[in-house]
Amino acid sequence: MEGIEKVCQFLDEVHTYYLATVEGDQPRVRPFGTALLYDGRLYIQTGKVKPVSHQLAQNPKAELCAFKGGKWLRISGELVNDDNRDVKVAMLEKMPSLKAMYSADDGNMQMLYLKNAVAVFSSFTEAPETITF
Ligand SMILES: Cc1cc2nc3c(=O)[nH]c(=O)nc-3n(C[C@H](O)[C@H](O)[C@H](O)COP(=O)(O)O)c2cc1C
Repeated sequence: MEGIEKVCQFLDEVHTYYLATVEGDQPRVRPFGTALLYDGRLYIQTGKVKPVSHQLAQNPKAELCAFKGGKWLRISGELVNDDNRDVKVAMLEKMPSLKAMYSADDGNMQMLYLKNAVAVFSSFTEAPETITF
């Protein structure tokens, strides 16, 4: 399995991860659950009306953190908007519950992929494993 696949699988398994953004000098963090591997990129999904989207438009730097079974994952990088309709459709297919709130053509659904990402798997017992993509 490629490193980026391992990262996406972990996010799928935890179901909930925490996404941190920056607003001025204030960190902002919230639970997220969307993750999609598409065309070699790791995407997350949000709504363009949300503060998180506005924060990323101002400053794309972000971190994701997740924990499961004695292992935790921290991903730092930039989140880049991608308006490709096919990616939105793929996300809605992977997580159909999103269809209650979003559609590919609603002007609100936003897909963002990680760029310059450094993902580190850590545990109290093993050496850290770093994956870049
Ligand atoms: C378990 C869980 C998973 C969530 N996943 C997402 C998600 O993938 N994308 C999203 O936009 N909001 C998701 N939310 C909702 C956001 O956490 C919520 O809208 C949050 O307020 C967004 O941050 P903001 O207020 O800074 O914009 C999720 C909430 C929960 C409880």
